[in-house]
Amino acid sequence: TDLDRIRNFSIVAHIDHGKSTLADRLIQLTGTVAERDMKAQLLDAMDIERERGITIKANSVRIEYPAKDGKTYILNLIDTPGHVDFAYEVSRSMQAVEGSLLVVDASQGVEAQTLANVYQAIDADHEIVPVLNKIDLPAAEPERVKENIEDVIGIDASDAVEISAKTGLGIPDVLEAIVHRLPAPKGDRDAPLKAMLVDSWYDSYLGVVVLIRVMDGVVKKGDQIKMMKTGATYKLDRLSVLKPQMVDIAELGPGEIGVFTASIKQVRDTKVGDTITHDKKPCAQALPGFKPSIPVVFCGLFPVDAADFEALRDAIEKLQLNDASFSAEMETSAALGFGFRCGFLGLLHLEVIRDRLEREYDLDLITTAPSVVFKLHMKDGEVIDLHNPADMPDLTYVDHIEEPRIKATIMVPDEYLGDVLKLCQDRRGIQMDLTYAGQRAMAVYDLPLSEVVFDFYDRLKSVTKGYASFDYSLIGYREDFLVKMSILVNDEPVDALSIMVHRDRAEARGRAMCEKLKDLIPRHMFKIPIQAAIGARVIARETLSAMRKDVTAKCYGGDATRKKKLLEKQKAGKKKMRQFGKVEIPQSAFIAALKMD
Ligand code: GTP
Repeated sequence: TDLDRIRNFSIVAHIDHGKSTLADRLIQLTGTVAERDMKAQLLDAMDIERERGITIKANSVRIEYPAKDGKTYILNLIDTPGHVDFAYEVSRSMQAVEGSLLVVDASQGVEAQTLANVYQAIDADHEIVPVLNKIDLPAAEPERVKENIEDVIGIDASDAVEISAKTGLGIPDVLEAIVHRLPAPKGDRDAPLKAMLVDSWYDSYLGVVVLIRVMDGVVKKGDQIKMMKTGATYKLDRLSVLKPQMVDIAELGPGEIGVFTASIKQVRDTKVGDTITHDKKPCAQALPGFKPSIPVVFCGLFPVDAADFEALRDAIEKLQLNDASFSAEMETSAALGFGFRCGFLGLLHLEVIRDRLEREYDLDLITTAPSVVFKLHMKDGEVIDLHNPADMPDLTYVDHIEEPRIKATIMVPDEYLGDVLKLCQDRRGIQMDLTYAGQRAMAVYDLPLSEVVFDFYDRLKSVTKGYASFDYSLIGYREDFLVKMSILVNDEPVDALSIMVHRDRAEARGRAMCEKLKDLIPRHMFKIPIQAAIGARVIARETLSAMRKDVTAKCYGGDATRKKKLLEKQKAGKKKMRQFGKVEIPQSAFIAALKMD
């Protein structure tokens, strides 16, 4: 295909501003599933079935658009992962296209994720077309939001396209804007093959499917290709474009985007950002900026029922087929038995994986306190990455400890600003910037990641009634006075509750955790001391008094069915408990105990 008939773009938006709805409309309006393919599709229902998995993950799509100038263009939309944890993947996808549609909800304005993503687009030298969505809403204020875009982002929004992705209003204008305002890709057809690995996923029928953007040269089915960073070579089995189902194609030239399969076993063999070339005639230089994504947040995952360990292992292996950015190593905890220490790209990533394990694989899990990676500078000069507070060595060998810091951007209506500043201050934040645009403020803070991994986002939402938006990026490591705090229940340390905490905050945290645990642990037949300690020194203590009577006693022994029900309920509750020495601790306590409020 002629380069000047191709347009590659992504859609940048804050969550819920309408990215998916707009993408659906673009596909629908251009009748991307063409009539002649329709029949083939119906005949091959099996194919559709098995490809459904792909279209869900890859919202990337190739659209053919007959423009008003009489020419037909190929528009490739590449979907970018929506959330902050995948910043690196977002920046890679941005390198694969030349332009972006900046979608902003005309009743809301610019939010933190809009900002983070649009900066990535600007960094990738994109041409940007602002699109104001939801103008069908009575609350839409397109003029105000245009000003807002200009003030906050600093790009010209005077000719923003005004649309309603819901009603379809303005969609043809978006298509024309893509063709006429976004640049065509560049590339040399005669040069050796140079393609970027943009994304990959696992399909149970096809194996690993790899999404690529060709920069130079031509790739054909059957070609012997090489991944430059991993050095692995493969023969291409199948080469297709996504419409959005896979449609086979003979070749992909410069500027084109498509997928291939090549008997690749695991997603981890494909590195996002890697350069793909021909094995026999490689390109001279790989694409710049390849870097593996590194897990930054770790937590332990243990089955509530120890018998589910094998099931948990299987489930983790299955999820890893599709997500190479999440790591898992077997871990044994004195208190929790066998489980896994898992690493994630960020908090949201952790939550997504944990939810999938619980829902899709029907597992009851104990999640230990999320922890960041601390750098222990030992007295002998060695630097150790500490992934688990339980592994903290004797302090006498440690010279100093560094922790990761983030730059957090928070956008919030004025009236909640005070609460937001207080929250950031409470979490050891250092203010970097504070600006106003209209009735909204933007606060930029340097914060310890460890203070954010737990419930920062929940707290932020609750103090701002959901009106704040938040985004962050890692900025580096810094030394601070950090200590390991352990929790002892009935004089036994519960390793899963150990946390690293700033020395000045240890007492307050310890007290809060003991109080919480006192409420969360059910009474037993004996008194239970709950203590927080740094080393051998107890810094907070609560006592859970002994239970006086049987729970069924209040049923007067009369109503047998009621009594039975109560006992059953108690038994069901037990399933979600773990035994620590003589004490049973409910699963929910592990997370709840750590919440700060
Ligand atoms: P995520 O996929 O969650 O990141 O969100 P998104 O940005 O893709 O937004 P999505 O397309 O899912 O739309 C969010 C909500 O806004 C949905 O309930 C849509 O129905 C609604 N919506 C999208 N476009 C419009 C519009 O033009 N007008 C109105 N009134 N609602 C819209």
